[in-house]
Amino acid sequence: MPAVLTALLVVLVPAWAQTSTPTPDVSLVSDLPLFSTSGPLLIRGLLPLVSLRKGAPFHFGATHDIWNPNATWTSNVFNTVFNHVVAENGCKWYDTEPVRGEANLTDCKGASQFAGAHHATFRGHNTFWHSQTPEWLPGNVTAEDLVKNVIPEHVKAEITGLGPNVTSWDVMNEIIGDTTTWDMDALACVQNKNAWPTRSVDGDATSAPLVKDLSFVHAAFAAAFKAAAPSTRLVYNEYYTGFNDSKTACVVKLIEDIHNTVNIPLNRLAVGFQSHVTAAPIVDFPRSFVPKTDLGATFKRLAGLGVDVLVTEIDIVVQTNTTADARWQAAIWGDTLDACLYASNCHEFINWDTRDDQSWIQPKPGRATLPTLFDVDGNPKLVAYELQARFARFALGRPETCATALGTTACTVSF
Ligand SMILES: *[C@@H]1O[C@H](CO)[C@@H](O)[C@H](O)[C@H]1NC(C)=O
Ligand SMILES: *[C@@H]1O[C@H](CO)[C@@H](O)[C@H](O)[C@H]1NC(C)=O
Ligand SMILES: *[C@@H]1O[C@H](CO)[C@@H](O)[C@H](O)[C@H]1NC(C)=O
Ligand SMILES: *[C@@H]1O[C@H](CO)[C@@H](O)[C@H](O)[C@H]1NC(C)=O
Ligand SMILES: *[C@@H]1O[C@H](CO)[C@@H](O)[C@H](O)[C@H]1NC(C)=O
Ligand SMILES: *[C@@H]1O[C@H](CO)[C@@H](O)[C@H](O)[C@H]1NC(C)=O
Repeated sequence: MPAVLTALLVVLVPAWAQTSTPTPDVSLVSDLPLFSTSGPLLIRGLLPLVSLRKGAPFHFGATHDIWNPNATWTSNVFNTVFNHVVAENGCKWYDTEPVRGEANLTDCKGASQFAGAHHATFRGHNTFWHSQTPEWLPGNVTAEDLVKNVIPEHVKAEITGLGPNVTSWDVMNEIIGDTTTWDMDALACVQNKNAWPTRSVDGDATSAPLVKDLSFVHAAFAAAFKAAAPSTRLVYNEYYTGFNDSKTACVVKLIEDIHNTVNIPLNRLAVGFQSHVTAAPIVDFPRSFVPKTDLGATFKRLAGLGVDVLVTEIDIVVQTNTTADARWQAAIWGDTLDACLYASNCHEFINWDTRDDQSWIQPKPGRATLPTLFDVDGNPKLVAYELQARFARFALGRPETCATALGTTACTVSF
C-alpha cells in the first residue's frame, strides 16, 4: 500500500472508531458451569435430540462448494458440527445455465453429493437472483421470452436435475427493495428494488422497465411448484428482514400474492431470513441485528399463516477484535438460533461460510469482521461454543431464555 494511503488510514481509522457506540456486557449460556468454551465441538451429536424435542428434523447447515480448500478440515467439520449443506455459489444461475438452454449441474450436484457423502441433508440456493446471472442474461431477451420460456425452463431444469431429496429451494432471492413503505403493494415492493428484470439493465435507474408486473415471480414459483417434490419447501429469501417494518411486510405481501395467484398452498411456502448482520447498536439498522423478541414475533406471524421460516445465511460482523465484541457476536448468534429453535415453523438454520479466512466478508481497515463460527486457522470461536450450549439447553427441555444480545441489564441467563 502506498505510504500516503497508509498515513491517511491512520488518520481516518480512529475517527471512524469513535463513532461506534460501546459494546454492551452480555450474559451467555456458555458462561454457565454446565457448558464448555473449549475442547471438541460436537454439535452434530446433539441434533437428533434437538429434532426429537422439535418433533421434526432440524437442519443445522453451512455453505460448501466443491472447489473449497481445506478438504480434510471441511469434511471433519461436517461430520461433527453440521448436518446440512447449501452451495454458496455452485447452484447459482451463472454456474448452472452458462449457455442458454444447456443446464450444467456439475457444481450444484457436487455440493449435493458432498452432503450425501457426509450423511447430511441438502438445500438449494437459488433458481432466480438478479445478481450472478450468466453472461447471456439480463441481456437480450424480451419480457415475454423471459416469463414464458427463460425462467420456467431454468427453474425446471435445476430443480428436476437435483432430484427430490432437497429440503427447500430458494426459488427467488432478493427481489424486494430497501426503501419500501407501508402503503406499497407486492408489485411496488418489487419495483422498489430497481433491479433487473423490472429494469432492462440491472440497477440502472435510467433503464426502462423490462417486466412491468409480477408475472416473472409467478412464472418462477409455478415452475418450482410443478418440479419440486411435495416435501420440498419453496422459499422466498431476503436480507435485512425480521423487524415489524415495511420491508418485512413486503415479504409477507409477496408470499400472500404467490399463494393467491399461483395457487401454492401456504404450507409449501417459506420465507428465508438471510441474517447478514453486524454487531452494532439497533439504531444503525439495517446493518445491525434483529433482537430475538422481534424476530420471534415475525416468525410467529408467519406460523399463523402456515408458512415456514428459515435462517438461511447467518454471519455476524464484529467491529473490533475484542473479547467484548466476541461475546456480543455469541449473544446475537445464540439469540437468533433460539428464535428458530423455539419457533414452531423453523427447521433450517444455515451459517454462511464455515471459517473467517473463507468468508465473503473480509476485513477492511477499521473493521475486524471475523464473521463466522471458526477462526482463520479453523478453530472454533466462542460463538460456536455458545451455539453448542444453546442446542444442549434446548435438548434438555429448558424454556426459552431472555434476549441476551440486549445486554446484562435486560437479560442474565440462568439454567
Ligand atoms: C486452508 O486453505 C488455504 C487456501 O488453500 C490455505 O492457505 C491454508 O493454509 C489452509 N489452512 C489449513 C489450516 O489447512
Ligand atoms: C460443466 O461445469 C463444469 C464445472 O464448472 C465444467 O468443468 C464442465 O466443463 C462443464 N461442462 C460443459 C459441458 O460445459
Ligand atoms: C436423501 O437424503 C437423506 C439425508 O441425507 C438420505 O438419508 C437419503 O438416503 C437420501 N435419499 C435419496 C433417495 O437420495
Ligand atoms: C436483440 O433482440 C432484438 C429484438 O429481438 C434483435 O433485433 C437484435 O438483433 C438482438 N441483438 C442481439 C445482439 O442479439
Ligand atoms: C407493526 O407495525 C405497524 C405499523 O407501525 C403497527 O400498526 C402494528 O401494530 C405493529 N404490529 C406489531 C405486532 O407490533
Ligand atoms: C484477534 O486477536 C487475537 C488476540 O486477542 C489474535 O490472536 C488474533 O490473531 C486476532 N485476529 C485477527 C484476525 O486479527
